[in-house]
Amino acid sequence: MRILITGGGGFLGSRLAQSLLARDASAKITLVDIAFPNGTDPRFTAVTGDLASPEVLAKVLPADTDAVFHLAAVVSGGAEADFDLGYHVNLDGTRALLEACRKLAKPPKAVYASSVAAFGGKLPDVLDDTTTPTPQTSYGTQKVMGEYLVADFTRKGMIDGRSLRLPTIVVRPGKPNLAASSFASSIIREPLAGVDVDCPVPDTTGVWILSPKRVVEAFVHAFDLPASAWPTSRVVNLPGITLTVREMLDAMGRVAGEAKVKHVRFVPDARIQGIVKTWPVRFRTDKALEMGFKPDANFDDAVHQHLGG
Ligand SMILES: NC(=O)c1ccc[n+]([C@@H]2O[C@H](COP(=O)([O-])OP(=O)(O)OC[C@H]3O[C@@H](n4cnc5c(N)ncnc54)[C@H](O)[C@@H]3O)[C@@H](O)[C@H]2O)c1
Repeated sequence: MRILITGGGGFLGSRLAQSLLARDASAKITLVDIAFPNGTDPRFTAVTGDLASPEVLAKVLPADTDAVFHLAAVVSGGAEADFDLGYHVNLDGTRALLEACRKLAKPPKAVYASSVAAFGGKLPDVLDDTTTPTPQTSYGTQKVMGEYLVADFTRKGMIDGRSLRLPTIVVRPGKPNLAASSFASSIIREPLAGVDVDCPVPDTTGVWILSPKRVVEAFVHAFDLPASAWPTSRVVNLPGITLTVREMLDAMGRVAGEAKVKHVRFVPDARIQGIVKTWPVRFRTDKALEMGFKPDANFDDAVHQHLGG
């Protein structure tokens, strides 16, 4: 089995690579990314380069590639701040990747990381599988366009595509990133490390969350499912859990002690609030549950996960 993971140097791509290799030690896994900040594991072929470049794609997609996990992206705050870069990577890069897939010996399974940023604006209190995406950010718009490309290339028999709309993944390790949702991890990660942190949104802000472990399982499950399990759109809203910032801090207090919560200061940031308030918070994910995708049982588990438990 030959697999390509785009964004393979990133948070989820690097975890997915480990998980795919753990279940099939004979898998030949190539990672492409513009950077590998945590180094590279010699068991993978790591290629540094721009996914939107046909030369790079020719290098990372040999004709016998069976599967592509497309995770490379300029994340939400980044795509909002740099309009051209967002379109270059998130739209042009996705199209270039799919075009390269057409040249393979057989249509590969292609799992695409979309986002609940696909939804925005005036939304019902509870979204479901019938809610129409109305993105209110460039990032969300690019993700929806990517979903449509994946569905159309699938319809044409050029790939066997599967798009997952990811909730916010918490707890993300490392440094804060440009995602507008970065605070959702920072308010847990920094206090657990004994570091003070500013929370840019009020504690009543709701977040739709999934843990890193569960989302990696979801990528693998999306790959394993037969084509017949997928709706015509080839898109599914992954199940998550809804929590307010206060409920997240309460969970951290339960797991790691109340003293940790005191590291969080509320310092409003209008830019972040402006993006986050357009995002959906509550979902019914009947289709995904029927397909066997699983949410976390509770947020305490996600905090334990981050602590290595
Ligand atoms: N983490 C979340 O909360 C979340 C939520 C919804 C959707 N997603 C999506 O899941 C995917 C993975 O997210 P992540 O949290 O691992 O983000 P990440 O930023 O850690 O990983 C994305 C990777 O893409 C790489 N990249 C950017 N431009 C590139 C280019 N031109 N060519 C090749 N690589 C490039 C980045 O260097 C980065 O390593 C992304 O598509 C993201 O939009 C993530």
